[in-house]
Amino acid sequence: MGSDVFNFPAQLLNVLRSASRVTVLTGAGISAESGVPTFRDAQTGLWAKYKPEDLATPEAFQRNPRLVWDWYAWRREQLGGVAPNAGHLALAEMEQRLPGFTLVTQNVDGLHQRAGNRRVVELHGNITRTKCFDERCLVESWEETGEVPPHCPSCGGNLRPDVVWFGEALPPEAFAQALSASRACELFLSIGTSSLVYPAAALPHEALEHRAVVVEINPNTTPLSLQASYCFRGPSGQILPALLKEAWSDSPSL
Ligand code: OAD
Repeated sequence: MGSDVFNFPAQLLNVLRSASRVTVLTGAGISAESGVPTFRDAQTGLWAKYKPEDLATPEAFQRNPRLVWDWYAWRREQLGGVAPNAGHLALAEMEQRLPGFTLVTQNVDGLHQRAGNRRVVELHGNITRTKCFDERCLVESWEETGEVPPHCPSCGGNLRPDVVWFGEALPPEAFAQALSASRACELFLSIGTSSLVYPAAALPHEALEHRAVVVEINPNTTPLSLQASYCFRGPSGQILPALLKEAWSDSPSL
């Protein structure tokens, strides 16, 4: 698809080129073109097939730790076979070009880091890390006894993935960084998120209140759409490289 199809306004291109601070919030949609399922898309979303209350709450883990551990192990395995897509790569290039760039993600898949982004604020944790359910400390290695889930080498409690479940607080430091980057930026891009899950969904509103230009990139409308300064409808793997190409015609990614 040619970049002219998206009709990027000159004002947006100027802000992107000249902003001293740009903040990006990503959701599951940025990884969709890598083959990672989103959560809420009809038919293909994980929450269309599975119930979050069975798999993504502390209570679910206490009720059936084996089921929950195995579900995350299956998702981790799926991620081993996928690669960052053109949208991830465009954001890695943006980080290189823009000194005041902050990437905040709700994703736990680690694809931004694999694409080359060095500074990633992870609001919902990372599926490749493991922590102790009781002590909450990160655990890097444990004895493989065949028990599922495995046990914490320090207290013997159950190990769990280091992801944020429904009903749990976000990692405070990550959220504080995300909030200040949203309040301080001149340009905020909301990419591939349904804008339904708080507190992450509050970040573009913080940016708007602090007079940032807010852009939504998503094939579908969301609760943010009406308030965003600009919306681009389509897959982020096409829109982001096109945006980079328009802003910096020497962009090597195209
Ligand atoms: P959702 O599944 O709620 O939303 C994914 C969004 O991506 C939708 O708005 C889609 O329209 C859009 N989308 C689909 N394909 C796309 C593409 N190729 N390019 C761009 N956008 C595309 O995922 P999130 O908003 O990330 O939380 O969900 C937020 C949180 O809810 C997740 O982090 C997860 C979930 O429950 C936890 O696990 C704590």
